Amino acid sequence: MEVIQDKTALREQLLEWRRHDEHVAIVPTMGNLHAGHVSLVELAREHAERVVVTVFVNPTQFAEGEDFEDYPRTLERDKRRLQRVNTDMIFVPTVETLYPFGLQNATSVTVPGLTENFCGSFRPGHFDGVTTVVARLFALVQPDVAVFGQKDYQQQLVIRRMVEDLGLPINIITAPTVREEDGLAMSSRNAYLSDEERAMAPKIHEVLESAGEALQSGKRNFEELENAASGQLSDTGFEVEYVAIRRALDLSVPNRDCDELVLLVAVRLGKARLIDNIVVTI
Ligand code: PAF
Repeated sequence: MEVIQDKTALREQLLEWRRHDEHVAIVPTMGNLHAGHVSLVELAREHAERVVVTVFVNPTQFAEGEDFEDYPRTLERDKRRLQRVNTDMIFVPTVETLYPFGLQNATSVTVPGLTENFCGSFRPGHFDGVTTVVARLFALVQPDVAVFGQKDYQQQLVIRRMVEDLGLPINIITAPTVREEDGLAMSSRNAYLSDEERAMAPKIHEVLESAGEALQSGKRNFEELENAASGQLSDTGFEVEYVAIRRALDLSVPNRDCDELVLLVAVRLGKARLIDNIVVTI
């Protein structure tokens, strides 16, 4: 497994793979890898002969006052983990490599329409940072396939839209959310939870599941379901940012006949901001 920091070494390796007609999959991450990331790498491996995992804590997607400084940086442990799942390359670019003109003068990519609501409204500028860095990673690695997790539901939709809108020849694959045994979606930010908060956190998935069951059983008053779910979360002690039932395809407001819905939740619990979702196909 190669660990590469620099663009030239990256290009040489990619050229070598291309010479052998090998397809390349990319798994962009910010490191601090857990079983959820490992599942992305395993899925990537099913779609390409070569798998590149990128590890970069991207400053442009953190707003003022967010956890950029505190975000866990665990590269040595991440390397060992990736070695075990047979990763071909870890690309660990520096800020200078990814943003050669500096963060202030960086060309930025915006995906209007899908980024204003939900996480976009609670984290202003977040999705511009994500699309800007992912576009750069795509430009450098030129992958055939890219894998993202469903836990960041809005993010994967935004990236799909960016790729389609820019006509990038990259197949975007969304991998199912990996959960702890008690249902909590795996996330690097779970590490911010105290023992007491950690014991509360599975409630998020429980609430999503029960709203999902209500939808499956024919309930169609979306607002009532959202309010009930939000109330249950607040009563448990979460600070609710949003609970929303939307059309899975594009996050638009669904009508009664919509047969693929996504239930999205974002809450704050102590120092952590947690998001989760489930897709309900009727
Ligand atoms: O999902 C993440 O970890 C990040 O948003 C990503 C896609 C690696 C971009 O920095």
